[in-house]
Amino acid sequence: MNQKIWVGTNWKMTKTISEGLAYTEELVRISKKVSNNIELFIIPSYTALTSISELTSQSRIHIGAQNMHWEDSGAYTGEISPRMLDEIGIEIVELGHSERRQYYKENDADINKKVHAALRYDMKPLVCIGENIVEKKNNISKETLAAQLKVCLKDLTKEEASSVMIAYEPVWAIGENGIPADSGYVAEIHAFLREELIQLFGEVGSDIPLLYGGSVNHENIIEYIDIVDVNGLFIGRSAWETERFEEILRKLENHLYN
Ligand code: 13P
Repeated sequence: MNQKIWVGTNWKMTKTISEGLAYTEELVRISKKVSNNIELFIIPSYTALTSISELTSQSRIHIGAQNMHWEDSGAYTGEISPRMLDEIGIEIVELGHSERRQYYKENDADINKKVHAALRYDMKPLVCIGENIVEKKNNISKETLAAQLKVCLKDLTKEEASSVMIAYEPVWAIGENGIPADSGYVAEIHAFLREELIQLFGEVGSDIPLLYGGSVNHENIIEYIDIVDVNGLFIGRSAWETERFEEILRKLENHLYN
């Protein structure tokens, strides 16, 4: 197997600048031994972005921001604009994470504006979608996900869509109380998302990376990465220490490329 995969971590609100720098120095060292088929990325907190992007500029690690406003500038206290992220060379913007949706009431229409804004600045939107436990229990996961995809990606040209990445993160699988999703279920959902993307964007939809996230760890990564339509993994807790992240990377590498 020779296909590229995306593997990265969302630090959420965990690391200070000094902690982030120590982590990143170590990850730069680790990354030198990782196959070029693995696109590595980290999504630090805003305060650490400038120093971390300087540190990684000569490395193969991609840097992302955890959120962004859609306007270039304006009276939006507490927000960060695409222009500001562009200035420090940010390549990826994570949009619509379930914690943003849950605690800050972000909705698909807002996320769509942010996707367009990111693309205007040549940043890669990493759009997070996922059903919650009530939607799953009511058997409307697919309807929910189809609607999220459709609205978040509204009015994108095929060319623009080719720069987007999607992370499927079932809300009930994320974080401390998350229950890791069954790999059969992930396979079914990713196949469905792939079909939806092809419906929306034709052939381009076949190449949009579909990442899986939610309680991914060194024990379940192989099961997930073996799924045909899983093109990467988006990891929280299990990649917040470089030793554990390295273990995950080594396992993936041995399984896929050796
Ligand atoms: P966990 O891996 O800690 O469940 O978090 C996943 C996540 O939210 C990635 O964005």
